[in-house]
Amino acid sequence: MTNFNIIPDRRKITNITKWTWFPKDVLPMWVADMDFPAPKPILDSLDKLLKHGVLGYELPGKVLYETVAKRMNDLYGWKVSSEAVIAIPGVVSGLNIAASIFCTDKKGVAMQVPVYNEFHAVKDNNSVPQVDIPFRKKVKGNIISYEIDWILFEKQIKKSKIFMLCNPHNPLGINFSRRDLARMAEICLRHKVIIVADEIHSELLLDKNKFTPIAKLSKEIEKNTISLIAPSKAFNVPGFFCAFAIIPNKELRDVFQKEVQRLRLHVGSPGLHAAQVAFSGKCDSWLKELNRYLTVNRDFLVDYVTENMPNVRLTIPDATYLGWLDFTETKIEKPFEFFLENAKVALSDGKIFGKGGEGHLRINLGTSRATLKEGLERMSKAMKSIK
Ligand SMILES: Cc1ncc(COP(=O)(O)O)c(C=O)c1O
Repeated sequence: MTNFNIIPDRRKITNITKWTWFPKDVLPMWVADMDFPAPKPILDSLDKLLKHGVLGYELPGKVLYETVAKRMNDLYGWKVSSEAVIAIPGVVSGLNIAASIFCTDKKGVAMQVPVYNEFHAVKDNNSVPQVDIPFRKKVKGNIISYEIDWILFEKQIKKSKIFMLCNPHNPLGINFSRRDLARMAEICLRHKVIIVADEIHSELLLDKNKFTPIAKLSKEIEKNTISLIAPSKAFNVPGFFCAFAIIPNKELRDVFQKEVQRLRLHVGSPGLHAAQVAFSGKCDSWLKELNRYLTVNRDFLVDYVTENMPNVRLTIPDATYLGWLDFTETKIEKPFEFFLENAKVALSDGKIFGKGGEGHLRINLGTSRATLKEGLERMSKAMKSIK
């Protein structure tokens, strides 16, 4: 059993972004990595690599690609060939590669907003237009949820060349249903829009949620999809920069692969080793315990906010370790600045996630319950001091 209540002091290692970006008296609950050590089988494998001592060039091998393909079959019954898998340094690199090769200055990237800030950077990185597809927000008591406005979805999809799907969704925590995925995919097919699915959070499932990769829904959808996955979120190894594009359609894969080759987008050997162990199944019991711990953290957040933060609304995420807090019904106009100054807690400012993010904050629940509780207590105290 892993004791997730104990977290190491991350400030002891310099350059750890989350804990050194803000002054020492600030509790960081922003960037999306967790405060837990990676699972032991991964650490053991890296230990072995370092003890060997020779750190030469290493390219992703057949065994790793077969391991990734097998995991898709084991988890979802999605049969992909190992040849469809390409190692890349990050999911974000994958999004940008896809935009650079498939978009034009007339037809760019569509995305459901608010969404992960790096989605918004794709347009400038690649000089392509961005088309926003805002969700429809629903409120019940202090709980908010988000739905797809299908008429708007189709209207916006028509204007784009690729649809960057974020599933599970950061920052809203939605694990899209098969039904919604099928409808999105069908609209994309009808308008010849390629789906680029960021599925980086797919193994971080709360409660008993089950994940469906959009490409698994049918052969036709698979042919139209680039799926991006990584061990970085679920197994907490984001600093190693290792991800995979799964592209069963050879035509799409060849152009994508060519660009990866041209830019020499190599993954370092620690990332390859970590991915091999993570996707081999050796860390699955750890992951199960983690998801259970994160589910309790999520419940703790919902209960705490409901009981102690009047007029603050929030989502109940199905997946990810990210919570989404809505301050638009409070007197706090700039919640990020307010809590940084008055509570000494750093969250992610909702406005970086685009339209619909103003007045919201994303909170990182990937920490010990005690740290989460301390952060929430600091926030609640700061709110009580408002006259
Ligand atoms: C939805 C999503 N995609 C991608 C990333 C980053 O991926 P990578 O580090 O593999 O580029 C994150 C990190 O927070 C994320 O939340």
